[in-house]
Amino acid sequence: MKRTKIKAVLDMAASPGEVFVQGWVRTKRDAKDFSFIELNDGSCLANIQVIAGNGLAEYDQVEKLTTGSAAGVTGQLAASPGKGQKWEIQATAVDVISIAPETYPLQKKRHTDEFLRSIAHLRPRTNKYGAAFRIRSRMAQAIHTFYLDKGFHYLHSPLITGSDCEGAGEMFRVTALDPADVQKQGKMDFSRDFFGQEANLTVSGQLSAEMFALALGDVYTFSPTFRAENSNTRRHAAEFWMLEPEMAFCDLEGDMDHAEELVKYLVSHAMEHCKEDLDLFMHFVDKNLGQQLETLISKPFARLSYSDAVDILKKCGKTFEYPVEYGIDLQSEHERFLAEEHFKRPVFLTDYPRQIKPFYMRMNDDGQTVAAMDLLVPGIGELIGGSQREERLNVLDARMDEIGLDKDPYWWYLDSRRFGTVPHAGFGMGFERFLMMITGISNIRDVIAFPRTPGSIDF
Ligand code: 4AD
Ligand code: MG
Repeated sequence: MKRTKIKAVLDMAASPGEVFVQGWVRTKRDAKDFSFIELNDGSCLANIQVIAGNGLAEYDQVEKLTTGSAAGVTGQLAASPGKGQKWEIQATAVDVISIAPETYPLQKKRHTDEFLRSIAHLRPRTNKYGAAFRIRSRMAQAIHTFYLDKGFHYLHSPLITGSDCEGAGEMFRVTALDPADVQKQGKMDFSRDFFGQEANLTVSGQLSAEMFALALGDVYTFSPTFRAENSNTRRHAAEFWMLEPEMAFCDLEGDMDHAEELVKYLVSHAMEHCKEDLDLFMHFVDKNLGQQLETLISKPFARLSYSDAVDILKKCGKTFEYPVEYGIDLQSEHERFLAEEHFKRPVFLTDYPRQIKPFYMRMNDDGQTVAAMDLLVPGIGELIGGSQREERLNVLDARMDEIGLDKDPYWWYLDSRRFGTVPHAGFGMGFERFLMMITGISNIRDVIAFPRTPGSIDF
């Protein structure tokens, strides 16, 4: 008989008679003449209840089933008299596939997130992590649906690169040089390295995306990015996914409108298509989550300049660990105050001082600030960072000179400003931070299958 996924079984409007399912035992309870088995196959949060009577030929095997064991069940799909479940399977045959010994770490009790991180290979078998990773999968697909509907083209930008898009020097080096040779020579001779020059893992696909936006119009990249930032915080990972749309003939306003539409679309999509999994987070992880997601969808995001935000922070009467002055890079505590306490909804800050932003952002008429935007959200702080790009060759040239950037390696980037340059804009959204926002999960390590953070690369 063909296997049916448990989600499909639970969704059935009428019983087809017999069904065949396979999965893992979440719990088993023995009564006098039969066993109740809660079986889960990962297709959805809910288990299906199986009733296996002692008349089964293999009942001695059924009795041995423990939490974490794997089994296939054939039986009649029948209306369940139990509360909260529509269907149960009255087993006519149970195929015990494997028995998990008592040492299985996920016994039926609540485990801490810290403990579950130490068994990241098993944690997707828990309700919470199963739900988180189903939502992650669905949201990744929703991003593609959103852009397909809008006529954007999906660009695969390279992961190994020779340039530092953000100029922050937080890159992981890629080399094929033999450490023993390097030691013998006393230096790394990149001319003898694989690419004949220094190479790194990318921190952003933006520079590639700009080249393609200036050809295909609207594009996006969605791929892993890498940052060797040594910050051990709950919102930084060394390997994370970034979504980066880039739009030709677009200014900063258009960029923010697009970001707001995207975030609202994704949240609505999650509420519609991941309801069962999201409910778990609303009930057990963050009681305010439902309300917050409603606000996200229904209220327009606030928009104000960096300078106005600094004024608010200085006048708010709160003491921050990092004092606020015009010109500082805002810290997470400042960002969260603005989004959580002051505006109580997502807020775009725009027009940052040029000194704290990368070379590619468009200079404003004041000559001091750039057409940047960061989207700050409750619970996280910065979710999105973007800008209108500097499309004027002479201004871009001057800016690169100002910060002492060697222009030679950027010859191709500058070419795009020589040939058919147009106003364009884009942004980057940290995918994991987005997932933290919609699940209420407070540590980035818990929305990544096998997180990479300073000092930690297990699994
Ligand atoms: O603000 P960032 O550095 O912007 C860029 O890289 C631009 N090139 C994007 C663009 O305009 N195309 O990073 C964008 C977003 C941040 O707002 C944050 O959500 C996320 O990426 N991010 C991280 N997420 C997890 N771990 C880290 N270490 C992150 N660094 C940035
Ligand atoms: Mg940023």
